Amino acid sequence: MNKRSSFTGKIGFVLAAAGSAVGLGNIWRFPYLAAKYGGGIFLLVYLILSLTFGFALMVGEIALGRKTGQSAIGAFSSLNKKYKFIGIMASIVPMMILPYYAVIGGWVTKYLTVFLTGQGGAAAAEGYFETFIAQPMEPIGWFLLFIGATALIVLLGVEKGIESVSKFLMPVLVVLTLGIAIYSMCMPGAMEGVLYYITPDFSKFSATTVLAAMGQLFYSMSLAMGIMITYGSYMKKDVSIEASVKQIELFDTGVAFLAGLMVIPAVFSFSGGDESALGKGPGLMFVTLPKVFNSIGGVGGGIVGTLFFLLVLFAALTSSISLMETVVSIFRDKFGWSRKTTCIIVLLGCIGLGLPSSLGFGVWSGISFAGLTILDMFDFASNSILMPIVALITCYFIGYVIKPQPLIDEVELSGKFGRKKMFVVMIKYIAPICIILILISSVLDVLGIMKI
Ligand code: PHE
Repeated sequence: MNKRSSFTGKIGFVLAAAGSAVGLGNIWRFPYLAAKYGGGIFLLVYLILSLTFGFALMVGEIALGRKTGQSAIGAFSSLNKKYKFIGIMASIVPMMILPYYAVIGGWVTKYLTVFLTGQGGAAAAEGYFETFIAQPMEPIGWFLLFIGATALIVLLGVEKGIESVSKFLMPVLVVLTLGIAIYSMCMPGAMEGVLYYITPDFSKFSATTVLAAMGQLFYSMSLAMGIMITYGSYMKKDVSIEASVKQIELFDTGVAFLAGLMVIPAVFSFSGGDESALGKGPGLMFVTLPKVFNSIGGVGGGIVGTLFFLLVLFAALTSSISLMETVVSIFRDKFGWSRKTTCIIVLLGCIGLGLPSSLGFGVWSGISFAGLTILDMFDFASNSILMPIVALITCYFIGYVIKPQPLIDEVELSGKFGRKKMFVVMIKYIAPICIILILISSVLDVLGIMKI
């Protein structure tokens, strides 16, 4: 058995876990959902859920990992053999997400170089994005670059790779987000966007607001895919789990909120206050924003565009590192392989699985299901189906099989557990109900019965 690596201390752990949590979901998806679901009211719902539902699930996973010192499969089976299957299901999720996440990471890398080399104007042209992703070779090249960089960092290990990269990238990311948010709020007509973003619009509030916030939270906090279990297993016993989770949440919600301040006012300013410009799905980041940057004009637009895609790249990279590390650690725990061998195998597997997602926008665009592209299918199966199921069984496992006490003891190893009562109530009663609702709504959503 290989000796288990660990993060050097609390900061290393918090930044690495925050690096996983802060990703494309925060920067692109959060602002778009907030705008759609009533601005301030969505923010409020999201915040409350994050401090209750998200908090409990994250504490549960980290404690599970640290208590057992193993990644998902070993963590569940060492506490109760019969429940090894949840570990296996949880492990499948990052294996499904990583390949397509890296395809999108490749697109981000491409856009960064386009803006960096002063060709932002081209990216703003009509049809640029669609033409780019439909090509067979070029997107694959960027995908390979992105996944290769991820593999290299994971190869360096927990402390030298993941921790040191996160310690550098995360602070830079926060500064960049803050800087661009301030810039964006100073654009002409931007204040209207800021008000639209933060003022609660109760007429847009409904049960779907809560469901959308919950679904987003899940994904955004990287829950239910064994990541936090794995990272917890690298955490030292004297570091406070509760305090760490509070800080990870602050990062995750803070960056999501700032991303809204960055994207919404800029889009408002550009579109002359037309809200529909925000509702473009993935197009928001790759189609609308390049146009916004281009409209700034001159060197300024190039610089803002470059910095924006740089920060998105950092966010995507730290998330994909956490995905790959989780997969690598599962194989290492299971087979006892060296880090190097495992990284190579995982890298090759990922390339194999990522190619169809990339090709699905071009030569393989004929393959689709319920209107979903190959990439969307991976996304749907992992995020909307497997993750809620894993989270639900995890709650059942903690709440009723091993009971919350062993995990509470684990949290209390490093001090008082302030929100202990809430943790128990959430895990046993409230979270399972919420998760069932998410699961039902996302299935109805894809079937076109209800639109989220
Ligand atoms: N939490 C990341 C985000 O907000 C997404 C992610 C999902 C990262 C799964 C890692 C694993 O974008």
